[in-house]
Amino acid sequence: MTRIAFFDTKPYDKTWFDALCVDYDIQITYFEPKLNQNTALLAKGFEVVCAFVNDHITEEVLDQLYDGGVRLLAMRCAGYNNIDFKAAIGKIHIVRVPAYSPYAVAEHALALLLSVVRHTHHSYVRTREFNFSLNGLVGFDLHEKTIAVVGTGKIGKVFIHICKGFGMKILAFDPYPDPSLGVEYCSFEEICKRADIISLHCPLTPESEHLINKKTIGMMKQGVVLINTSRGGLVDSQALLEGIRSKKIGSAALDVYEEEGELFYEDRSNTILEDDVLMLLISMPNVLVTSHQAFLTQEALQNIAKTTLGSINEYVKGDVMTHEICYQCATCHKVPNQRCF
Ligand code: NAI
Repeated sequence: MTRIAFFDTKPYDKTWFDALCVDYDIQITYFEPKLNQNTALLAKGFEVVCAFVNDHITEEVLDQLYDGGVRLLAMRCAGYNNIDFKAAIGKIHIVRVPAYSPYAVAEHALALLLSVVRHTHHSYVRTREFNFSLNGLVGFDLHEKTIAVVGTGKIGKVFIHICKGFGMKILAFDPYPDPSLGVEYCSFEEICKRADIISLHCPLTPESEHLINKKTIGMMKQGVVLINTSRGGLVDSQALLEGIRSKKIGSAALDVYEEEGELFYEDRSNTILEDDVLMLLISMPNVLVTSHQAFLTQEALQNIAKTTLGSINEYVKGDVMTHEICYQCATCHKVPNQRCF
């Protein structure tokens, strides 16, 4: 039986992993803490570790895991900017879940967009207090507005299809354009100049870090709406705050935040937030923050558990791991008929 140390466990993770792991010769031990250099020792004696988006998987953590016997790191998420890949090569195989429900994330992005442009988050609070006034709730139609989709991969594509249904004009930016989408690709600079709404759907990489910064915000249309359901690091939060203060940014909806690691997924309602930028952003009437929940649908959770357990099973059987990744994957074009090392 293969033993798995499962970090950053939430009740909804257990529901799906417990339901599906009965099909495999696998035993899962659930740990609540995130995986980091203080908690990596918990995995001593386990062969497989299952981790998530805000775990801090540095070289030191990988070394500790390896010394403790871990040989597979199964990420139950798509993004992997939180792992020191180079430190893992030759020691610990890494698998991820490249797609579990692009619909979950794209639909959440749209829900955020609709909320900020129609102020439904304010209406909800008002009517609970029997305040039925409409003052200050004037929104705008999405129909015929120009929306820019940054990153036209799995999620971006679904988002584009949804936006087409609303009759929006679509611009796109991606280093690998997909002509079949029938949208206008242009430079990021042009996106900034022309878009009424910008929605981010690209991964966080050294190239995309702080894509939204003081300079690019400066190029944007007055009152632009920014939606980020991708990764917090794509946006320079201080620049965003200044953009909102100067009214350059009309509204922002964020499912992710640069410094979310120690905050999101936890109940911090009884503590004083030390992150002043986040506090100020949350306090703004035209900012809507959700705590990295775009993925959180039943379908996505089921698919995450299914794919993760499937990858672990491939590892146990000695098979090629369909969803293995390493730092060379971007430039390595080999047919995936063998493991990364
Ligand atoms: P994908 O890999 O299918 O697509 C990403 C696209 O971004 C690709 O077409 C790629 O060429 C493009 N891209 C790469 N660098 C770029 C850059 N600098 N500028 C513009 N485009 C660039 O990935 P998928 O599944 O669509 O996911 C996108 C991102 O969504 C993930 O990287 C992750 O950060 C985020 N995500 C957020 C979730 C949430 O719960 N909030 C859940 C799942 C993913």
